[in-house]
Amino acid sequence: MLLEIKDITVHYYKVPAVRNISITVEDGDIVTLIGSNGAGKTTTLRAISGLKHPTTGEVHFKGQRIDKLSPHKINALGIAMVPEGRRVFPQMTVLENLLLGAFLRNDKDEIQKDLEEVVFRHFPCLKERKKQAAGTLSGGEQQMLAMGRALMSAPKLLLMDEPSLGLSPIMCMEIGKIISDIHTEGKTVILVEQNARLALALAQHAYVIETGGIALSGPAKELRNNDNVKKAYLGG
Ligand SMILES: Nc1ncnc2c1ncn2[C@@H]1O[C@H](COP(=O)(O)OP(=O)(O)OP(=O)(O)O)[C@@H](O)[C@H]1O
Ligand SMILES: [Mg+2]
Repeated sequence: MLLEIKDITVHYYKVPAVRNISITVEDGDIVTLIGSNGAGKTTTLRAISGLKHPTTGEVHFKGQRIDKLSPHKINALGIAMVPEGRRVFPQMTVLENLLLGAFLRNDKDEIQKDLEEVVFRHFPCLKERKKQAAGTLSGGEQQMLAMGRALMSAPKLLLMDEPSLGLSPIMCMEIGKIISDIHTEGKTVILVEQNARLALALAQHAYVIETGGIALSGPAKELRNNDNVKKAYLGG
């Protein structure tokens, strides 16, 4: 097991956004969290990445407890987040945004190697546009940049929050293909998606989150055929 979330509750001020959630992620899997707006998906990712500390419960990564660590420490251990809404720095160039992802690393040769052999190989359009301001990229390209920036920290586990949001159907397919390729090359992924059809096609394992709790979980294949999931998330 690569990641284990044990019974966490996460509050914003006095209000619990996530209650007693437990999730396990096996090394090499894509695990998806699906659920409607406000269900607690982003909050769960924030609790893994250290942006939000759970009030109770524990998070373990590679056997080490991480739920009290800072986001930097957690990133250095091998977890990178691709945030909701991309959050690229629009005035900075594509290259500068990518290098920010590697700011905790010291080995310049390794960084250069990952830039060429991981990021630019998966995202040739970012290479073409590396000197361009990130704000001039299309939505799909900005999503690729956010993914590339996360990959620049050489993570073992990638947390992706709504990568397909606001993208055209063709761009969604392309992002899906890249997630699948990155996974095949050895990354473990937690994928949060409103596009349940895409998410359940990519993932091995799925959790349905409803009002801060886990309503259902199981192999993605099974959830795809579950009547409640079909009705609520796959359009009948
Ligand atoms: N910064 C915050 N301050 C206070 N409440 C928050 C904050 N962020 C989220 N919440 C609340 O926590 C709950 C869970 O929100 P969260 O963003 O985790 O949901 P989500 O599943 O990611 O939804 P969406 O699909 O809309 O992104 C919601 O009720 C939301 O209003
Ligand atoms: Mg969210």
